[in-house]
Order: sequence, then structure tokens, then C-alpha cells
Amino acid sequence: MRIEKFNSYKEMSEFVGDLFASQLLLKPDSVLGLATGSTPIGAYEHLVKLYNEGKVDFSKCTTFNLDEYYPIKQDNPQSYYYFMNEHLFSKVNVNKANLHIPNGSAPDAEAECKAYDELIDKMGGIDLQLLGIGENGHIGFNEPASSLDPGTHLTGLTESTIAANARFFDSADDVPRHALTMGVGSILKAKRIVIAINGEKKLDAFNKLIEGKVDTMSPATVLNLHSNVIVAFSN
Ligand code: GLP
Repeated sequence: MRIEKFNSYKEMSEFVGDLFASQLLLKPDSVLGLATGSTPIGAYEHLVKLYNEGKVDFSKCTTFNLDEYYPIKQDNPQSYYYFMNEHLFSKVNVNKANLHIPNGSAPDAEAECKAYDELIDKMGGIDLQLLGIGENGHIGFNEPASSLDPGTHLTGLTESTIAANARFFDSADDVPRHALTMGVGSILKAKRIVIAINGEKKLDAFNKLIEGKVDTMSPATVLNLHSNVIVAFSN
């Protein structure tokens, strides 16, 4: 695990954005694992800037997002589908046919999850996976629990995640109680992972992660099982 500490959110975001840009330079048809939440926004802004300067080309890449609320409609401004369009997809030259986000309105969640994992495998796996982290150490929507699911699955959100994510909704009552998320096994299959961590509120989760022990009650710690992880931290 490589730990990179930055003095500002901006510097961290540029570092993370540059990792994705160089991944695409080296392998234009990369499979990218993408994340939502407020933390990756700066990295996406940096990528959009690089794209506008002609320094990065998204036309051949494929993307898989980590998670989506369930149920939620794609046109709901709080959906992760909407988020990705707003912050990245509508601003760069991605091929829309190559973009994948778990479908928050799929009638059969289990079938949706199974098909999602199969498609990631069929595309050759994720080359570079971006992660954020919840205050309770969750990655994607893999919440603290006595055991963690390996594959993409339907999950319930903890009260603390509902409270943390309420800032994006009119009220906590409007936060969906469930989500579809890649499992820790799906995440660990990525060839390379970068986890972006910003702010004092995440300090506890960051410290647990870099302690080196695996604890399912702080899900990000499973990254200690992976041999190619970069932890990008700014406070
Ligand atoms: C949500 C997402 C996570 C994200 C987390 C932290 O719960 N499912 O993928 O890492 O929020 O978000 P933020 O970066 O806004 O703190």
C-alpha cells in the first residue's frame, strides 16, 4: 500500500485525476472503475480540464461505477447516474455505450447484480478503480458488518450513512434505504486501486485503513489484501 499525503484537496484531486489520465495514455481502451460522493469531484474536474486541453482521450475506455441507490430513477438528480453525467460523462468524449452503472430501477436486483459482475469479467476486469470512503469506513456501499459480500449485491444502508448522505437530499427521509453495490471481491479484482480520502471526518477510517489489519467492521481495510493500492489523503 502506497500512502500519498497532500496539503490540499486540490493537490490530491490533481494527483488522482493524473493517475486516470496516464492510465488512458498507456492503455486507451482501459476499463475504469469510477466512484461518486463529493470526494472524487475534484479529480473529475481535473480530468475535464485535461480533456479540454487535448491531453486525455476517453473515446475507447469502458467504465463501471461502484454503486447506485435502489430504488432510484436515472433522472433523479440524486442518482449516481445523474451525478456521473453532470460531473464527467457529459463533459468528455466517452462512448455512452461503454458506460455502466448499476441500474437503480432494475425490476430484479439480483439479476442486475449478477449481470454486472459478469460484464466486468467479460470486459477483462477493471484496470484502475477509484474509491472514496465513508466515515464508517465503507467503500462503495459495503457497510460495516460481521461479514462482507464478495460480488455485486443489493444492500441496506446504515443509519450513519443515511445521515451522512442526507446533505444531498431534501431530508434524511428522502435517502433511499438500499443500494446496489459492487462487493469487496469485485473491488479487489481490480488490477490497481486508488482510494481518495479527504477531511478530518475521514481521519478515523484512514487510520484504520493504514494500520494494516483487515476488519470487516471497517470495510476499506480489505484493501490491505490487495498488492497495488494507492491511498491519497488530504485533510
Ligand atoms: C457514498 C458512496 C461512497 C462514497 C461515500 C463518501 O456513500 N456510496 O462510494 O465513498 O459516499 O462520500 P463523500 O466523498 O461525499 O464523503
